[in-house]
Amino acid sequence: DKGGWSSFMAKEVSEEPEAIANTVRGRIRDGLVSIPELDGLDELFAGINRIIVVACGTAAYAGMVGKYAIEQWARVPADVELAHEFRYRDPVIGADTLVVSISQSGETMDTLMAVKYARERGAKTLSICNTQGATIPRESDAIVYTHAGPEVAVASTKAFVAQITALYLLALHISHVRGTLSDTEVRQQVLELEAVPDKIARVLEDEQAHIEQFARWMGDTQSVLFLGRHVGYPIALEGALKLKEISYIHAEGFAAGELKHGPIALIEPGQPVFVIVPSPRHSPLLHSKVVSNIQEIRARGARIIAVAEEGDAAVLPYADEVLRIPLADPLFEPLLAVVPLHIFAMGLATAKGLDVDQPRNLAKSVTVE
Ligand code: BG6
Repeated sequence: DKGGWSSFMAKEVSEEPEAIANTVRGRIRDGLVSIPELDGLDELFAGINRIIVVACGTAAYAGMVGKYAIEQWARVPADVELAHEFRYRDPVIGADTLVVSISQSGETMDTLMAVKYARERGAKTLSICNTQGATIPRESDAIVYTHAGPEVAVASTKAFVAQITALYLLALHISHVRGTLSDTEVRQQVLELEAVPDKIARVLEDEQAHIEQFARWMGDTQSVLFLGRHVGYPIALEGALKLKEISYIHAEGFAAGELKHGPIALIEPGQPVFVIVPSPRHSPLLHSKVVSNIQEIRARGARIIAVAEEGDAAVLPYADEVLRIPLADPLFEPLLAVVPLHIFAMGLATAKGLDVDQPRNLAKSVTVE
């Protein structure tokens, strides 16, 4: 039931705030992270010196965001690998490795095979999944469910933000078990996380109509580029994937720092480029680097669409469009910055008269390798 929305995707984007809130609910005690499903499983985290996240598509981008939090808070080296690449390359894994799989459906064959392979090699496995009782969680040593609710549209939206949320809870849990963050530090991050749903609701309220109008206006665009740095990089990849999936437009996401090593050759007059701009208050150095990237491509005629923090005036002279997100600590910005990109992809596909819920050639869960 679309509940009055024009598509499941529109409904699911509107549910991004509650997908996060419901994933956090029941997992906080005295302001600290306490995940009931992980009770008694401290041993799973004690002996590990490495985390490998395996996933496909949007779930892999959630994993890339999670890597920053796992390393920053829990101080465990973390890597993200596409599940279908992982088991074909003889990876170095064993009892000291925790393999974290992420899957909305819990049935993606590529991810399932990676989990089975990891177990055979003696690694510990933990599954982040949105579907109770699915195959991947049943094959794993531990499960942290995302509580995004059923996701019907093929392109993942609310499950993506719930996956990042679950990874953050997991990272804070491991930080606590391993003592890499003090209770005060964990409490601070928990407060930041709990503030995210209201901030997303504000993006939806303040920006949705503006972004949809802008997307309609971009209806005949042939190609869109996305740039991001640090946690904005996986968000750039996700923005591009969403556009490919539902509006069939050529789109690429790049790490902003990589621009001068290749992608800048693509810039010609009129080329639309979304830029995820880091916070000037929290990350002044990264902010200034991204602003200079904007200047470089603007000088070559790019049309800049900046996703920037409220009050960031530095982008104004160079941006053709500014999509505003509320202030947040750097690790929480991706949860906000992705929302305008989801709305944009949906708006553009709708403007082209496409079925946003059932894009051609794609299936919600791919149960063959
Ligand atoms: C793809 C879907 O086939 O599988 C994507 O079209 C999804 O939306 C990816 O991100 C992974 O799916 P899952 O269920 O493992 O998260």
